Amino acid sequence: MMARSAPPEDLAMAPGDPPVVDVEGLWTTFGKGDEAFTVHQDLQLSVQRGEILALVGGSGTGKTVLLRQMLGLARPTRGSVTVLGQPASEMGREGAASRVGMLFQQGALYSAFNVLDNVAFALREQGTLPADVVRDAALVKLQMVGLEPEHASRMPADLSGGMVKRVALARALIMDPPLLLLDEPTAGLDPSSSDDFVALLRELHQALRLTVVMVTHDLDTLFALSTRVAVLADKKVLVTGAPREVARYPHPFIEHFFLGERGQRAMAPAHTVVTAKEP
Ligand SMILES: Nc1ncnc2c1ncn2[C@@H]1O[C@H](COP(=O)(O)OP(=O)(O)O)[C@@H](O)[C@H]1O
Ligand SMILES: [Mg+2]
Repeated sequence: MMARSAPPEDLAMAPGDPPVVDVEGLWTTFGKGDEAFTVHQDLQLSVQRGEILALVGGSGTGKTVLLRQMLGLARPTRGSVTVLGQPASEMGREGAASRVGMLFQQGALYSAFNVLDNVAFALREQGTLPADVVRDAALVKLQMVGLEPEHASRMPADLSGGMVKRVALARALIMDPPLLLLDEPTAGLDPSSSDDFVALLRELHQALRLTVVMVTHDLDTLFALSTRVAVLADKKVLVTGAPREVARYPHPFIEHFFLGERGQRAMAPAHTVVTAKEP
């Protein structure tokens, strides 16, 4: 049997920089007594500057909880989650917004606020900048995600799914955080909006020199964006490495995830044209 404390098998080269995210010996337990259940058990993960790490795992394996811990919204039961050299749970709300941006799974815009006020939220709450400076900063972010100034006064209910994601992304980036967390960024988008959003994320990753941790079930998104994949299974990070390498790792979840029909399609080289069989 493998020792539980063994580090995850890393199939990629480890760069020398200090990690942007460092998760050490993380345990997360919910509930008490008979009701207690453990989601993470001695989980290790580090993310280097500039990476786009895809975090994959079955439903309920604690992917969203892990992102929330990186944002400082949830505390480890044991172990540590360090972001840019500081424990994530000690960043405070303001500190968090300037270090980490998060795109929540549902977009999660404030429905009573228009687009501009949603984007400006963290900056306005900070209360240190004049209103017109906050407004201009929000407009710059809107432009950055491909929206027009006239979208600023729209209400969330009047936006398409793709636009909600863009506004949520602009909001996550309002304080120029070096680390961006994405929870299922393309879930619920049609294929064309999904491709557009992936292209936008790729551009912003480069232009803003972001480090990205992204939870995704979508293999097209995973192969199009990620520089490395970490697989959450058996309550820990089972394996990390380049997408194609991880796909070959023998584990039932990985086989199901990558080697099903969907996976084969996503892994095929982009120029491969699948033609119908001759009769
Ligand atoms: N605050 C909480 N209190 C109790 N249970 C929670 C809490 N947050 C998450 N969980 C449970 O932890 C498990 C992992 O949740 P989550 O991280 O959302 O999974 P996923 O990998 O699908 O994103 C689930 O069983 C969920 O119900
Ligand atoms: Mg989730």
